[in-house]
Amino acid sequence: MKKSSKLSFVLLLVLVLVFVTACSNSGGKTSSDGKIVLGFAQVGAESGWRSANTKSIQDSAAEAGFELKFSDAQQKQENQIKAIRSYIQQKVDVIAFSPVVESGWDTVLKEAKEAGIPVILTDRAVDSKDTSLYKTFIGSDFVLEGRKAGEWLLEQYKDSSEDINIVELQGTTGSAPANDRMAGFADVISANSKLKVIASQTGDFTRAKGKEVMQAFLKAHKEIDVLYAHNDDMALGAIQAIEAAGLVPGKDIIIISVDAVKDGMQAASEGKINFIVECNPLLGPQLMTAVKKVLAGEEIPARIVTEETTFTSEQAKQALPTRQY
Ligand code: AHR
Repeated sequence: MKKSSKLSFVLLLVLVLVFVTACSNSGGKTSSDGKIVLGFAQVGAESGWRSANTKSIQDSAAEAGFELKFSDAQQKQENQIKAIRSYIQQKVDVIAFSPVVESGWDTVLKEAKEAGIPVILTDRAVDSKDTSLYKTFIGSDFVLEGRKAGEWLLEQYKDSSEDINIVELQGTTGSAPANDRMAGFADVISANSKLKVIASQTGDFTRAKGKEVMQAFLKAHKEIDVLYAHNDDMALGAIQAIEAAGLVPGKDIIIISVDAVKDGMQAASEGKINFIVECNPLLGPQLMTAVKKVLAGEEIPARIVTEETTFTSEQAKQALPTRQY
């Protein structure tokens, strides 16, 4: 090979190398058809709420024309961390996730930040001190939800001269909704010393666990006046246990729950659940808007709170026919 051809060949090789490196470091769109790629690490499929949330995210991503990479962590933090790392490797445009638990996210969030991939939290919060690790947190105010449950109960028993025995079915241990719903409720009912939480245990937000733990509560405690369940699914499982014990849910034991998904609203309209605090799972549209804004370099609020209401049995009966989820 001539000296000049050798030089051109080396130059060409260098150019090719520079081009390949530039492309692989761009962190840009990895979809072959140029779509925005969103990696979403979901908690699992533990409840009716979660199924509605997943559907909302999948439908809204399709509507926005995004490519959605979706993973189900089966309620395990290690699975979610693995999914986030794989989204970093795949150089998606944005990562969104609903953290199973609040703690232990700093390392993986820093990895995403170093890779230049923006992160959006939906539904559940993390307890990281460094808020620059994510762009925004879209979701409910869980403390407020717990407070609403407590306020209703406070009102029901404001004239009671007897102790009111409450059992509590907590959500997944260490999760933001379990921590916050417990704290908000406890704070409000502390205004009346007659309201006593005699047992409180996790039912992991599932129907099966709700039933199992309620069976144990019923065995251990002769007098249970109130059940406070952190979600409808656990309340529905508990209702099965209460009925199997020969008691009438909603009468012998007053039931309060959170979510207001269709099955919960059905039970409320039949008088089996007395009061439901709504937690809206339809976060997809807000998430897609946030993704677009973040990629366009627009400022977005650090916290986007979902608007929610509450339902008595009567209100549930009226709302049920038009309930979306
Ligand atoms: O994080 C939201 C909670 O997670 C819902 O209230 C519960 O049903 C779900 O599993």
